Amino acid sequence: MNAPPLPQSLASLKPIPIVKGLPIFGHTFALLKDSHGWGTRMNEKYGDIFRYSAFFQDWVGLAGPEAAEFLALDKDNCLSAEHAYRPFFGHLAVTSVLLMDFEEHRKHRQALNPSFKSAVMKTYLEQMHRIFSKSLPQLAIDGTFLFYPAIKQLTLDVATSTFLGIDDHKECAPINKALTDLFDSALAIVRLPLPGTKLRKGLKAKEYLVDMLRSQIPERKARDGQDLFTRLCQSEGADGNGFSDDDIIGHLLSFWLAGHDTLASSLTTLVYLLGKNPEWQQKLRNEIMALKVEQGQPSIDDLKELELCDYAFKETLRHVSPAAHTPRRALKDIAYNGYVIPKGTIVSVGLRHIHEDEKYWPEPKNFDPMRFAPENIPADRHQFAWAPYGGGAHKCIGMIFAQIQAKVFLLNLLPNYRITIPENYELDLQLVPTPRPKDGLPVTFVSLQK
Ligand code: HEM
Repeated sequence: MNAPPLPQSLASLKPIPIVKGLPIFGHTFALLKDSHGWGTRMNEKYGDIFRYSAFFQDWVGLAGPEAAEFLALDKDNCLSAEHAYRPFFGHLAVTSVLLMDFEEHRKHRQALNPSFKSAVMKTYLEQMHRIFSKSLPQLAIDGTFLFYPAIKQLTLDVATSTFLGIDDHKECAPINKALTDLFDSALAIVRLPLPGTKLRKGLKAKEYLVDMLRSQIPERKARDGQDLFTRLCQSEGADGNGFSDDDIIGHLLSFWLAGHDTLASSLTTLVYLLGKNPEWQQKLRNEIMALKVEQGQPSIDDLKELELCDYAFKETLRHVSPAAHTPRRALKDIAYNGYVIPKGTIVSVGLRHIHEDEKYWPEPKNFDPMRFAPENIPADRHQFAWAPYGGGAHKCIGMIFAQIQAKVFLLNLLPNYRITIPENYELDLQLVPTPRPKDGLPVTFVSLQK
């Protein structure tokens, strides 16, 4: 971490306190073990800004909603998402909006946004409903089962069927397996594709997926379809001439990867919190049962009625954010609150620390979805005091998709089953790459049908 000479205008600013770690690995192992606890300890010891190394990168840790806003809005265009994420995810997808900045990002995002608007969610919603209505009763039959691996499978099935238009679970299986291998390789510590490593497995999986997708592009360009893949093939693309094959494949892979694991994580936290708070299960059940769903198929408008479910999912994301950080790499030396953030460092803010800050969230450990009822939101609460989907140009493109999926899940579960978890059970999370219970979360769906 050799600091380059500073421009005159920044010379009077303070250097950031450095937290010494292990040679070469820095704080990698501590972060892999418990990134949230580590961040809390560093905030207590060093305050709202500190510098450290981990995962072979040089980092600056910031704290608070103002810092999250500073990163997300990047008013001076001096923070790069691409250069922060590429060392970790660059091998996963050739193209991704998360691996783009500024004008290039704006053009791609503009071309992709229509595929995630409420209006096109109708077909995605039908697929989600089909999968959950069929699969949840099967899980219930098993008695006590591990929820996280089960929901991970289901969210993958949802992603594969809505994104590819494939309905057959058997056909999805090899694709899902390859996606899992690819995702698991993101934070592999060994960054060389040596035999037997996660990275090698991930790259093989990518080869299979890329070949499979590429072979289908000509046919999908020639026909209409409601799935995301076909939409991307038909899109006008970033320059009005359609996306290139590499762009289509890259965007699709990154939606898949960003889309299923975040949902598996958040639905697991939701089930845990509802297991702990049976009175909330009943409130949500009552709300769902009061809904008049025509011919058993909920519509987007039906889901809009489920306000308590919406608050419960928001409160879930406050308790455990599936995306813990929104890192950016400084493209130049940047003045921040009297300090200088050095060019080349990756700047990051822990979202969960903001979501647990008593200043914004009284009794933060309590599960209280009513915090999100409009009448209970303080007018002066910082807009980044709750930011599980990020903000600014890179704000999550799949936010509505996620909200719909959470509601369709609850709608299929709660009227039919009571969630029970073992007495005095406490969630022990592995936080990297996405929060998940170390023991998978044992759960039972007890049938409510007499
Ligand atoms: C509860 C579920 C989800 C959470 C909490 C979540 C969280 C986030 C966050 C925090 C970001 C901003 C990253 C940054 O600024 O560095 C983001 C971006 C993104 N998310 Fe999500 N996400 C969720 C679901 C989804 C789904 C379902 C999809 C796809 C269908 C998706 C696709 C993406 C993509 C492609 C980006 C990058 C957007 C861009 O760079 O313009 N996410 N997500």
